[in-house]
Amino acid sequence: MVEFDPYDWATCVDPYPVYRELRDSAPVYRNEKLHFWALSRYDDVVAAHLDPETYRSSGGVTIEGREAAAPMLIVKDPPEHTWHRKLVNKVFTPRRIATLEPFIRARTAELLDRVQNKDEFDVVTEFSVLLPLDVISELIGIPVELRPEVHDLSNRLSLRGDADDPTNAKEYAEAGLGLLQLYLGLVQERHRTPRDDVITQLMEAEVVDESDGTVRKLGDEEVAMRFMELGFAGHETVALLIPSALIGLHRYPDQRRELVADPSLLPNAVEEFLRWDPPSHLQGRTTSRDVELHGVTVPAGEKVMLLTAAASRDERAYDDPDRVDVHRATKKQLGFGVGPHVCLGAALARLETRIAIEEFLARFPDYGIDESRAVRRVQTNVRGLSELPLLPRSA
Ligand code: HEM
Repeated sequence: MVEFDPYDWATCVDPYPVYRELRDSAPVYRNEKLHFWALSRYDDVVAAHLDPETYRSSGGVTIEGREAAAPMLIVKDPPEHTWHRKLVNKVFTPRRIATLEPFIRARTAELLDRVQNKDEFDVVTEFSVLLPLDVISELIGIPVELRPEVHDLSNRLSLRGDADDPTNAKEYAEAGLGLLQLYLGLVQERHRTPRDDVITQLMEAEVVDESDGTVRKLGDEEVAMRFMELGFAGHETVALLIPSALIGLHRYPDQRRELVADPSLLPNAVEEFLRWDPPSHLQGRTTSRDVELHGVTVPAGEKVMLLTAAASRDERAYDDPDRVDVHRATKKQLGFGVGPHVCLGAALARLETRIAIEEFLARFPDYGIDESRAVRRVQTNVRGLSELPLLPRSA
């Protein structure tokens, strides 16, 4: 009988064989020990994501659900979620994201120039963790002198070990509070001196809540919280996708050669990296009613994990799904989630990843990787590497 424990080490290293077993023999899987259900087939995962009435986010989006009480967008349900999301959308327009392209390219070049002549470097700690944090800081308008502190606090918040360990829990709480205070300080400063930036705009933005006709606006702490969430979500995810893409291209050298020869394939390749091995493997929901699926009843009030990473490799949706194919036509992109909670930073993440891989391949078309020395992180909501030794010229 198939067993799916996301904390099992072998499953962390390569969950895809287990995902296949789930799809084939337990499409509505129950883990009694960890108290969750899991959906893994493409059609089921998409349908659940598109049904927020039944699959609620407010019970938390991880197996543990510790984040459920936090005032974050990701754990709100409609109608509250709808107006909160509309407010943020007013500020994070596609036009604003597009203006970041020159900054992203220049910063990428700077970071890669620093490692250009090394015999070996760590692609995560020396590149992929640094870039997204700088980009999000630029987008939010964090003053340059505060960026080292934001880096430090964000790293302490995301690179924690076992969150049940009291030392880690204390460290985590301190880093979270530190970041919130930093953002709150920026909000208060904008009260004194408003600027033409996203902080001021979000403080001033108003929307009509269509569920009751009320005009809604955020308070200072809510604005600070929103930026903290954006910073957090936009930092570690991109940091994990870049090494995953580089591993994909290392394992499929024919695909790498094609990208090196024709960078216009990159936007499609980014979609493929997100399908092949995405940073976010599962999104948790809680059922608001009994659900009947494939002859199994999931009772109301149960935690259900929507395994987007398993769904993206479903043979029922894709031919030869385990292979990286930079020409593949992705159906719905599940790497950013689907439906009302679909990633708010998707356009930015796509832009950053495309530029990062393009600049990287232009400098290191023959790179090698020592996967035996890669260090993997264990968390249920995101999956990826915290270290990946890279050999610039030894493929
Ligand atoms: C490769 C990079 C990224 C990946 C794989 C990713 C993935 C995801 C996924 C799967 C969700 C849906 C969660 C759910 O349904 O419960 C999500 C939501 C979200 N993402 Fe991203 N993300 C990425 C980058 C970013 C960036 C750069 C930002 C910010 C600038 C961001 C901000 C958010 C926010 C705020 C939400 C919550 C949206 C809501 O609940 O309405 N993400 N992301």
